[in-house]
Amino acid sequence: MLADMADTLKKLFDKDEIRSAVKRLAEAITRDFDDEELVLVSVLKGSFMFISDLMREIRNPVVVDFIRASSYGSGTATSGQVTLTKDLETDIAGKNVIIIEDIIDSGLTLTAIRELLLARNPRSLKICALVDKRARRKVEIEGDYVGFSIEDGFIVGYGVDYAERYRNLPAIYVVEQE
Ligand code: IMP
Ligand code: MG
Repeated sequence: MLADMADTLKKLFDKDEIRSAVKRLAEAITRDFDDEELVLVSVLKGSFMFISDLMREIRNPVVVDFIRASSYGSGTATSGQVTLTKDLETDIAGKNVIIIEDIIDSGLTLTAIRELLLARNPRSLKICALVDKRARRKVEIEGDYVGFSIEDGFIVGYGVDYAERYRNLPAIYVVEQE
């Protein structure tokens, strides 16, 4: 059984669509950075499956590291206050850094992460997101490499969760609320 009883999941992107999106992103990254070394910064947990597929398709020398961000604020407060609950172990000064994120929603998380990483003086800093939810943006931020653009809707699968469930699904689904 795929969904819990309360959730209805509708398939949005299947395995093949994800595979070709990942391939296209990796090719663009490989093309943009020639033979330069990259530091790929995966934002946990949602991007772990995405980065594992993506980095296998990138031809550059690559260092991978992980951060975990948690944002505070109640449902009404949109403070955008983000702290790192797990920081990088890699010194990114002078490096070509790409943040690998599952979803850009309001953009608050990525904006905060970008500021934190920029303060460490990387040579360059780009954003790669699997899914961009354009209609939900609260701050101006764009992904440099984007797999899929959707308007809205809550998605799960391929590493992305709803209350920690559904990360193991190999495709991406929309959760339809009754
Ligand atoms: P933002 O700060 O609003 O852009 O938050 C983005 C983060 O919220 C993503 O990294 C996800 O972890 C989570 N998120 C946003 N939309 C969804 C969704 O549709 N499904 C699951 N998690 C989501
Ligand atoms: Mg996330």
